[in-house]
Amino acid sequence: MNIKKIGIFTSGGDSPGMNACIRAVVRTALTNNLKITGIKRGYQGMIENEFVNLTSRSVSNILQRGGTFLMSARSKDFLTPEGRKKAYDNLVKNEISAVVAIGGDGTFRGAIEFNKTYPDIQFIGIPGTIDNDTYGTDYTLGFDTAVNTVIDAVDKIRDTANSHHRLFFIEVMGRSSGWIAIYSGLAGGAEAVLLPEQPDSIDKLINKLEAGAKKGKTSSIVIVAEGEELGSAVEIAHQVKEKFDFYDVRVSVLGHMQRGGSPSCFDRVLAARLGVKSVEALLAGEQLKMVGLINNETTLTPFSEAVSKAPPFNKDLLRVAEILSF
Ligand code: F6P
Repeated sequence: MNIKKIGIFTSGGDSPGMNACIRAVVRTALTNNLKITGIKRGYQGMIENEFVNLTSRSVSNILQRGGTFLMSARSKDFLTPEGRKKAYDNLVKNEISAVVAIGGDGTFRGAIEFNKTYPDIQFIGIPGTIDNDTYGTDYTLGFDTAVNTVIDAVDKIRDTANSHHRLFFIEVMGRSSGWIAIYSGLAGGAEAVLLPEQPDSIDKLINKLEAGAKKGKTSSIVIVAEGEELGSAVEIAHQVKEKFDFYDVRVSVLGHMQRGGSPSCFDRVLAARLGVKSVEALLAGEQLKMVGLINNETTLTPFSEAVSKAPPFNKDLLRVAEILSF
């Protein structure tokens, strides 16, 4: 395929490092004498013809910024054949034959569907989500920054928890995955971590908290992944309070603060490596694949696998957290 111009967009929930990744894609494209166009608001901007020409200067000074300057969206219109037709017509009008999509599994599913009718547009994806729940990469873009944001909050909450003899339930993001929970639980020294990858029970949790209290703990932190099957942090706190009144109980839901902020060094380096690799993959003729990092090497995984396989969860982290929580 003879590519002259690449399109780039960010889609789904934003994540820290997306700007650094756009910069890497733009500069790699320009280095290879390709033109590059930014598509605003993901698939929705593709449908509404929101295209902006990008130069090396357009991406100066964005490396360190959270969010995405191309904006992001979850497009309902792209789920329809009419929406996809408009998107295709706009790509052709703007002379774009290859696209880099930074997003999560919804973004890659959209590309798979689009390709069934319009196979002449090449797609390469980059996993951008704080959840770290994508098959085909050890780390997604934004995860490292998000867990650093969380442990900063956990450290601060621990200060006040300890001053008041309190038990805190801290709810962290992760729609259906416990990566943020286990990393922040381990790094923040939580007494317990509740996450969807492991079965939990209120009684087991109370036994653990009781054992800690008997050993002289004056405060406790429980990290709850938002996808935890026992319920939200508020619901779990309520159940624990009814049966175990040793501590004064409080709940803190960290929410969208986890999605913002300047990307960490790790995320900036990851953004650079995945961004460069994505353009190289397009030039090598690759189609419908996601760039990832496995064992510190950049890799390509077909979108079909990235969206259908569950990423393996590292159970050893749970074992280590369990050992250290007493
Ligand atoms: O997928 C990333 C994520 O931040 C999840 O952890 C969270 O459940 C979801 O997005 C929140 O989405 P929204 O910003 O639409 O509320």
